[in-house]
Amino acid sequence: HAQHSGSSSFPHSNRGPNDEDDSDTIDVHIIPLSTSEAIDRQRGDLQKNVTFSNGLTLVVGIIIGSGIFASPGPVLAYSKSVGVSLIIWFVSGLLAFAGALCYAELGSAMPSSGGGEHAYLNHAFGSLPAFLFSWTSIALLKPAGNAIICVVFAEYVVNIIAQSTWDPTQPMRHWSNKLIAIACVIVLSGLNSISVSVGTRIQDLFTFIKVVTLLVIAISGFVVLAQKSLSSHNFDHAFEGDGKPSLGDVALGLYSGLWAYDGWNNINYVSTEMKNPTRDLPRVIFAGVPIVVIFYLLANTAYYAVLPEGTVMSTNTVAIDFGKQMFGNTGGVLFAICVACSCFGAANGSIFTGARVIYASAREGYLPKMFGKVNEKRRTPIAALGLQAVMTTIMILGGTFSNLVNFYSVAAWLFYLASIQGLLYLRYCEPNLKRPFKVWIIVPVLFSILGLFLFLMPFVQAPLESSLAMVIVLAGLPLWVVKELVSGNKGTRWEDLKSKVLNFFGFQPAGGRHER
Ligand code: ARG
Repeated sequence: HAQHSGSSSFPHSNRGPNDEDDSDTIDVHIIPLSTSEAIDRQRGDLQKNVTFSNGLTLVVGIIIGSGIFASPGPVLAYSKSVGVSLIIWFVSGLLAFAGALCYAELGSAMPSSGGGEHAYLNHAFGSLPAFLFSWTSIALLKPAGNAIICVVFAEYVVNIIAQSTWDPTQPMRHWSNKLIAIACVIVLSGLNSISVSVGTRIQDLFTFIKVVTLLVIAISGFVVLAQKSLSSHNFDHAFEGDGKPSLGDVALGLYSGLWAYDGWNNINYVSTEMKNPTRDLPRVIFAGVPIVVIFYLLANTAYYAVLPEGTVMSTNTVAIDFGKQMFGNTGGVLFAICVACSCFGAANGSIFTGARVIYASAREGYLPKMFGKVNEKRRTPIAALGLQAVMTTIMILGGTFSNLVNFYSVAAWLFYLASIQGLLYLRYCEPNLKRPFKVWIIVPVLFSILGLFLFLMPFVQAPLESSLAMVIVLAGLPLWVVKELVSGNKGTRWEDLKSKVLNFFGFQPAGGRHER
């Protein structure tokens, strides 16, 4: 696999039945689906089964996870007032929506590519940025993303066990949090090693629970507001807080909000499985993302209707405080259990798909072969699951919710931004590319401006996490050189490498813009 073709289907690819296959491995399709039916299909051949409503539940199920139950505290702390925090929640939603619309254009213009950033970057800019994306997914995005969800899971579990008797600053509590988060990773990786269907059953149940939890929160908030009881005075002086947030604060606030909306790009990974992707992919995005935005705004309004501003600001487990205030101690415990389930389900889905990214990379020749194998008896990618569990554990040991979110987001936004630069670049260089869905050009332009701000600001505000993230991304450069040299054709390795590098910087050797 020395070179990628333009139709590379990596990393979230759905390999067709005719793809080459080692006889001792079983093909696992790489689809981050959250319904058991859909995931069960991964063992069979590629089928075009995903309808509009499947797509809709998928995107809603993937996006809603830990964030709406954990981010409201950090968002309020960064925005400094209730009013600004609600604006941040709204703007984050708009950004996610804008990004998803751009991805709808990319997905419908390159339908056979399997979807996902690797394919789009490869098409627009060649193999180097595509490789860097895959490398970053494996080394940073997937493990840090898993870690964040597991950390929130642990916060809620510790709360169920210890209630409020444990001071959160106690080292004992700090370490129990980490231990429970690590246990969650190990248990889920184990369950996903046993069989594919165990993972998918977990997914279905927990998706249902989290949607109901959010609905209950939103409805109870409404009831409280209608009765004007409790602390709804939060809205009376909504913009009076502890001073004005700086631009950097706004960026970090947006990151916490955007974490809750993260996953908006995932529907592209199933575009090849849709019955009618050119029609349904944009429709799913037009319906799904706004539904989540409305859900989140309602949930936040509910939190503020019920809880004093100070309580929201200082908590990572806002749903527990909400439950206690509304329904007493039992309510707190009940909500904690529901949120823990939501996170457990989200972590399960994320671990499921993360292992498949490693698996696909190994099959692409980016990683040692053993990670591209599926256990014969269990039909699960055990080595990939193991590698991912180790890296997730390292992230859990090294980070907290807030700094992991910053760390994750710098890298994630770098690649969202790059993919959307790909969209703009292709509009310019390949104007005749068939684009069944064409986004209004102002959307990617605005997204790019805000995205650049989002990418750069954290270097001032959270320099440690941001630089570390960039160091990891750039560590992919020497790896790419090594990969090119190891896998290239004997004799022409250096020439190939040189022309790829020149190509990347816009010098066009004879024979076309890229090695497509
Ligand atoms: N929005 C989700 C949450 O609040 C995170 C989704 C992360 N998954 C992903 N595929 N990017 O927990």
